[in-house]
Amino acid sequence: MTSNTWPDLDGIAYGGDYNPEQWPREVWDEDVALMREAGVNFVSVGIFSWALLEPKEGLYEFGWLDDLLDLLHANGISADLGTPSVSPPAWFFHQYPEARVTLKDGTVMGFGSRGMASHAAPEYREAIARMAGALADRYASHPAVVMWHIHNEYGVPVAEDFGPRAVASWRRWLQARYETLDALNDAWGTAFWGQRYGDWEHVVAPAATPTIANPAMKLDWARFTDDQLRECFRIERDVIRERASQPITTNFMAHQSWNTDLWKWAREVDVVSDDHYLWAPDPDAHVGLALSADLTRSVAGGNPWILMEHSTSAVNWQGHNVAKRPGEMRRNALTHLGRGADGIAFFQWRASRSGAEKFHSAMVPHAGPRSRVFREVAGLGQDLKALADIRGARTTAAVAVLYDWESLWAHDLEWRPSDDLQFRERMRAYYERLWRDGVQVDFAHPEADLSGYRMVVAPSSYLLTAEAGRNLEAYVEAGGTLVVGAFSGIVDEHDAVHAGGFGAPLKNALGLTIEEFLPLRAGETCHVAYGAESIETDVWAEDMALAGAEVRGTFTDGPGAGLPAITRHQHGTGVSWYVGTRLSVSALAHVFADAYADAGLTPASAPEGVEVMVRTSGAEDFVVVCNHTDDAADLSITGTNALTGAQVDGQLTVAGGDVAVVRTAAGEWGGGR
Ligand code: GAL
Repeated sequence: MTSNTWPDLDGIAYGGDYNPEQWPREVWDEDVALMREAGVNFVSVGIFSWALLEPKEGLYEFGWLDDLLDLLHANGISADLGTPSVSPPAWFFHQYPEARVTLKDGTVMGFGSRGMASHAAPEYREAIARMAGALADRYASHPAVVMWHIHNEYGVPVAEDFGPRAVASWRRWLQARYETLDALNDAWGTAFWGQRYGDWEHVVAPAATPTIANPAMKLDWARFTDDQLRECFRIERDVIRERASQPITTNFMAHQSWNTDLWKWAREVDVVSDDHYLWAPDPDAHVGLALSADLTRSVAGGNPWILMEHSTSAVNWQGHNVAKRPGEMRRNALTHLGRGADGIAFFQWRASRSGAEKFHSAMVPHAGPRSRVFREVAGLGQDLKALADIRGARTTAAVAVLYDWESLWAHDLEWRPSDDLQFRERMRAYYERLWRDGVQVDFAHPEADLSGYRMVVAPSSYLLTAEAGRNLEAYVEAGGTLVVGAFSGIVDEHDAVHAGGFGAPLKNALGLTIEEFLPLRAGETCHVAYGAESIETDVWAEDMALAGAEVRGTFTDGPGAGLPAITRHQHGTGVSWYVGTRLSVSALAHVFADAYADAGLTPASAPEGVEVMVRTSGAEDFVVVCNHTDDAADLSITGTNALTGAQVDGQLTVAGGDVAVVRTAAGEWGGGR
């Protein structure tokens, strides 16, 4: 069947994971009444229901789900129907003990939690296909079902599987990738440490090894692991697709997951959906939220997406589960919306009394509906109703930030020049600089077409293929402005150092290569003279071999004293900047101010701590203004506040902690675009 590309729903999708099987039947009636009160129109059901749906192998009990879907439908609430493949029942593992996942050290996972199935096990693959088929046969035309939600957060809690079945399928995967053992030996550089393979049966998985395993093997293993998960997704998706026309999704975890290459995954789903949880140790966790939302929209190709899970208040799985303070949940939700989400959902509807997540917040907390959290949940429902017209509006960005999961995997392998130079930390620092400057960004793969962007930023591109190098070079040649962070363009797709040395694929674009890395000791700092500034920096220095680049910043002390730290290079009609050290978010401001000038970009003029996001329908813009500070902030803008209906005549005042959404003429808010 052909699929729809959005669930058949009016307005913004609003709701959460709903697990009524944890509650007596009479609570369901209260649930739907409260859902209506809160403006909920969309709930995800059945994600963990396998043991109830198939209590014994081949014995299906759909009665309760029939009742539930009928009840939801009768109340005007749509269902995102889950397939329960993340949590097969106890009988399954009893019957098929080989279908359990094996950890690196050989430990076979036991039952009593979730996510312990081996994705390589044929018994698991058959069982998930049967279950998905049975659900689709029964509910493909149920009027409540508007979307299918396959599995849950692929790769969590366990992605890698070192069991014998997984290893057999790894060998098949390698044979398909390399065809010959010679090609594999070459790609993995097995001449090193005498690792040459003479027989496919001798090829092992990178399990427990005395010292570090072959990095190229580990990088392929990460690709293989990701592929296995995607194969399982496809099994369920295709079975459902044969029977049903509703769109199919699975919930991603953008910047918070490691195992899934979302550029690939996004091509497999009809609708991109994502889960995001604030990371409590981060005092500016809302910046991480914005990064995650932009990354999600970007993998979705700019199409609207659904925030499938976030929390109304505290989570339960961090060391210090910080509760959200009044207004914070609303700011979080509307930031996702401002960055392209046309659906806002939570984990979960009603807090569980039992089990591992009883201290996790919910839309209906343990305190019940007469609580601050529920009042805010209902308030958000009102907001989203008022914002229905935003649906489908797009985001335009003048800047692309390069993000590549393969580079993350490779960078995170062991024995790098410095443990302190991290992909995620660098990504966040460069993103945060752009966020603080009010510059709207997309994320892009390094081999993507970048010609539509005025500026491209590569915070951390350790693995950069020769093709990506040519792409970036052509981008600059044609007039683009490129900003590249340290330790980029170092290895190819096999984690082998590029012929021509460190940075070789970017040599023409940057006008330099790197002769030697000069990392600092833990905690050490040094300084860079940049114009009239002396900028403190840490972690990284290096010795560049200049090939035309102009030195704009010089190390004044530390291991690189006297050597170039920051360069600018004119190539073709464009300009490249290179930052050969680890600059903090505030230190990056100096370089970015100059790079914006090269790119002809004007950062937005919003007050500090006020986040401005623009979605456009072409004819009009929706300017979402989120005030993260405690003080009122003023913005120059004209339009109508979509949340209050008030006219905004040239000046908008947003109270501390508040959010406004102004409908304006297209292009009214020009900052950072
Ligand atoms: C998500 C998961 C949910 C729930 C939630 C708690 O990662 O998909 O099922 O466990 O975390 O924060």
